[in-house]
Amino acid sequence: MSEAPHLAPDLSGIRFSHRHLLGTEGLSADDIAVILDLSESFVEQNRQIDKKLSALRGRTHINLFFENSTRTRTSFELAGKRLGGDVINMSVGSSAIKKGETLIDTAMTLNAMHPDVLVMRHPDSGAAELLSQKVDCAVINAGDGSHEHPTQALLDALTIRRRLGRLEGLIVAICGDIAHSRVARSNIHLLNTMGARVRLVAPPTLLPDAVERLGVEVHHDMTSGLKDADIVMMLRLQTERMQGSFVPSIREYFHFYGLDAGKLAVAKPDALIMHPGPMNRGVEIDAELADDIHRSVIREQVEMGVAVRMACLMLLTRHLSNWQGT
Ligand code: NCD
Repeated sequence: MSEAPHLAPDLSGIRFSHRHLLGTEGLSADDIAVILDLSESFVEQNRQIDKKLSALRGRTHINLFFENSTRTRTSFELAGKRLGGDVINMSVGSSAIKKGETLIDTAMTLNAMHPDVLVMRHPDSGAAELLSQKVDCAVINAGDGSHEHPTQALLDALTIRRRLGRLEGLIVAICGDIAHSRVARSNIHLLNTMGARVRLVAPPTLLPDAVERLGVEVHHDMTSGLKDADIVMMLRLQTERMQGSFVPSIREYFHFYGLDAGKLAVAKPDALIMHPGPMNRGVEIDAELADDIHRSVIREQVEMGVAVRMACLMLLTRHLSNWQGT
């Protein structure tokens, strides 16, 4: 008996008008639902033995990483390959960049090779938008400075939605180094759009300027911040983005803001623990709690990442399939 061919999901009835994915700011609730719904079908596909589809056959997908990354780059690479695209990885050490001009030079060079999608991570906020203005293909922001990291927020939303069935009305406590976190910013926009209640829990030194404009509740202690929370999202202390000292000592930081069983006890009894990785065990999260399969969905977040990135790649390149091959 012959195997059924792996067909990519049919996108013909789907409305998604964006050319690039630069942030979650600017995505509507419908846009987000479209991405999450499409991602669901890839979750199942990724659990099969034969994971390969041909939706991106003939398409060129370039990963352009100006910052080190293991999980995000691998996740995008797998996503492109599982859709049958040609994926090229370019790592550029940030020490080698002369900011601004070199990014544009690189963009022009790559553009001349006719890629269909460029996935970029860069240490400067706004770099992905700049790139999108210079090239003819779709651009996906895989993290620009402390600005946005939209696919991380989308994979977080997919993880939550699969576990709790919804986003609307949930209390989500985002804790730790919010000032330097593009993950926090992308999550705040997405969760607000989807009707969740976002709380930021951090010492004043780790909160962004103009936090009151973000439409969130602010807490400076874990007891009030985590009370009755459905989701506890921990963030890494991003020391590479800090100039000067933001916390007195790691020990003291863990004492007040590190997640342990005692602090978690005030959240809902079935509250989920999330972390975008990489984790600093013993700094922002207790090592055992991070591995607690009843509470932590950290590994599931990684799994959902591939599915979400497949959905984004498909949606952003689908307009090309209308004219290519005709
Ligand atoms: C995050 C990032 O790079 O912004 N990691 C990730 O994408 N998985 C968070 C972090 O580095 O702490």
